[in-house]
Amino acid sequence: MAESVLGSAYRILNSSVVSYRDRPVGTVAARDPKMLAAENYQECFVRDFVVSALVYLADGKPEIVRNFLETVLELCGQELHIEGHEIQPGVMPASFRVERDGDGERLLADFGNRAIGRVAPVDAMMWWAVLLHIYVQSTGDRELAERPEIQRGLQAILALCLKGAFEIYPTLLVPDACFMVDRRMGVYGHPLEIQSLFYGMLHTVSDLCGANPETRRLIDSAHKRQAALRDYVRTCYWLDLERLTEIHRFRTEEFGDGSENMLNIHPESLPGWIGHWIPDRGGYLVGNLGPGRMDVRFFAQGNLLAILLGLTTWTQTQKIMDLYEARWDDLVGAMPVKICYAAVEGEEWRALTGSDPKNAAWSYHNGGNWPVLLWPFVAACLKAERRDLAERAFHIAEEKLARHGWPEYYDGRTGRLIGRRANLNQVWSAAAFVFAHKLLERPELLAWFPSNLSGE
Ligand code: GLC
Repeated sequence: MAESVLGSAYRILNSSVVSYRDRPVGTVAARDPKMLAAENYQECFVRDFVVSALVYLADGKPEIVRNFLETVLELCGQELHIEGHEIQPGVMPASFRVERDGDGERLLADFGNRAIGRVAPVDAMMWWAVLLHIYVQSTGDRELAERPEIQRGLQAILALCLKGAFEIYPTLLVPDACFMVDRRMGVYGHPLEIQSLFYGMLHTVSDLCGANPETRRLIDSAHKRQAALRDYVRTCYWLDLERLTEIHRFRTEEFGDGSENMLNIHPESLPGWIGHWIPDRGGYLVGNLGPGRMDVRFFAQGNLLAILLGLTTWTQTQKIMDLYEARWDDLVGAMPVKICYAAVEGEEWRALTGSDPKNAAWSYHNGGNWPVLLWPFVAACLKAERRDLAERAFHIAEEKLARHGWPEYYDGRTGRLIGRRANLNQVWSAAAFVFAHKLLERPELLAWFPSNLSGE
């Protein structure tokens, strides 16, 4: 492989390190000197740093990851109010930065109190837990996880996520724009990406939380929730031609126990494109599900993390790969990987995005192509034993990314154009490329991620 592409990616990653009190604690989101998009790309985002962390762990440099895990946890110690409302224990920031003045340095976190649109970072606490588990798997350092403050952090996350509210389903109910898609995009309710991460977080807790008499009840309910979540997502989120046919012929208005159309999905609510887009072979987990609502858009990160974190069955994993193969131009195209398919346009775009020009059809979160998704794609392909697809996608990225200056995202139906408002030197684009390369060279790194129980 062209050494210079890897070298260029490493240059960006190495130049992005954030230090606090002389210790490396994270990486900034972008190193674009023009930084057209927004000022906060100079902060360390929790979800973005996970990709850098994977590279550091693979390179045997765990210190920065350890420092990051400790720093993010420390930031949660501060009492915080947003608009007079107190932030719950367990909530972690979307990002943080180091402020320097005459008096020295201090950390400033963003729990959504500064973010564009004041979006709630629900995924941050889950990424933190998932990364903690990967850190332990890769270093064997259980001592960090066993520390009382880390245990308290895990318990706070768990207590917050399991807190009874108005819920009926085992999935987690969240507001719009609370994960990688951090803008209004009609992804409120029970979006798949959050459910995959929630499942990964529950797995971490099962493995790393010491069950003592005080925490036993909490841990027991985590186990129950994990099993219920898995069964529900595998059954109710799944869509393939056979299932679509069932939905197409659903009876509606069924009252009481044992109804087949439990959520009262009206077949007419499904968009016209789905009938001809879904291939004979292949299927996927839909983007969102609720009463009378099935969002059949394909969200890549949710599906790929579901494979990686053990939420799909082996058959489902294979069928998701079959879908990628059958709809390659739509889902990979000119730059791996499409964030979501299909884009929303016209009236639907106005209603779902609130007329957001950055989320115009086939751009940014609304059907753009994101190089950062290369790593979960390659990892999921390898886990599914479909190395051919992983290599095919990797070579597309290898040929363009360095030449284009490591853009944040691409626009267009097949992702041929560099995104209109995309940063260059986007750190997670570079780190994802490096980690994808490492996975192809050392597939044994997959052991960091949970394996499915046998026969599943
Ligand atoms: C954008 C993305 C978000 C990412 C951030 C920093 O806001 O939507 O997912 O974390 O940029 O790269």
